[in-house]
Amino acid sequence: MRTKLQISFMLIFKKVADIQAYLSQQKPAGRGIGFVPTMGALHAGHLSLIKLAKADNKLVVTSIFVNPTQFNDKEDFEKYPITTDTDVAMLIEAGCNVLFLPSVDEMYPQGTENMPVFDFGYLETVLEGAHRPGHFRGVGQVVARLLDIVKPDSLYMGQKDYQQCLVVKNLLGQVAGGNDIEMIICPIIREADGLAMSSRNRRLTDPQRAVAGTIYQCLISILSKAPSGNFTVVQKECADLLADKGFVPEYIALADAATLQLLDNYSATTQMVALIAAKLGNVRLIDNMLVEADS
Ligand code: PAF
Repeated sequence: MRTKLQISFMLIFKKVADIQAYLSQQKPAGRGIGFVPTMGALHAGHLSLIKLAKADNKLVVTSIFVNPTQFNDKEDFEKYPITTDTDVAMLIEAGCNVLFLPSVDEMYPQGTENMPVFDFGYLETVLEGAHRPGHFRGVGQVVARLLDIVKPDSLYMGQKDYQQCLVVKNLLGQVAGGNDIEMIICPIIREADGLAMSSRNRRLTDPQRAVAGTIYQCLISILSKAPSGNFTVVQKECADLLADKGFVPEYIALADAATLQLLDNYSATTQMVALIAAKLGNVRLIDNMLVEADS
């Protein structure tokens, strides 16, 4: 019996000109390029995006770039895990075709001062926007730059960063060619205790990791109170539970899933989303869950 030897390989580009030259020559017809932007420290959540991109596209491009301009907290940036060798191995295993791995100078050759500034209006002022000033400006700048380099047909982003997904959707309406890019928001991948997978989870100590699933329990209890009634009661219960487990909650919110307008009461007619951000020691965790309207 003959066994078939499967050899997987992935091209790695560090220079903008090189990846652009390659992609312009190789661009497949139709639904050609699926793009998964990341900051590395990859986990099963990222791999699920690559799997979906692979199923829909002829060529999957992933980027790894820890974008300094989106970190409002210096320590968060300095402690952001860098695991490039493992990431490369995981990407090859997942069947990624092309990795873009630029340096800061390659991404921002003229510095960041004169980069275009995108206005995301209300989205920049609420929840993540309020707690991480400047964060979405940085995300907008780097994603616009990456889209301009890769020119994908489809863009894959995780629902775990719910507000970021809304910001990037908005960005697609502001950049040239953005309306031709299909954005696919991929489901949150969770650990056995419900903790949403995140590159930051590896910074949790064992005792912190043991209680980190409490955020998920809070989201489940918010969901269980739907579809009607007052949200502020369960909001307070969650704040107390999180504080009891050693978290410092930043927000526990219920919002219109499309606009992120905050709600004090469950809505019978609007698709909602529950969102939580809380710090456990120095590690900031976020998570969310869609809450169906009563109709
Ligand atoms: O979600 C992320 O990993 C980052 O914010 C992104 C979209 C790659 C931009 O740096």
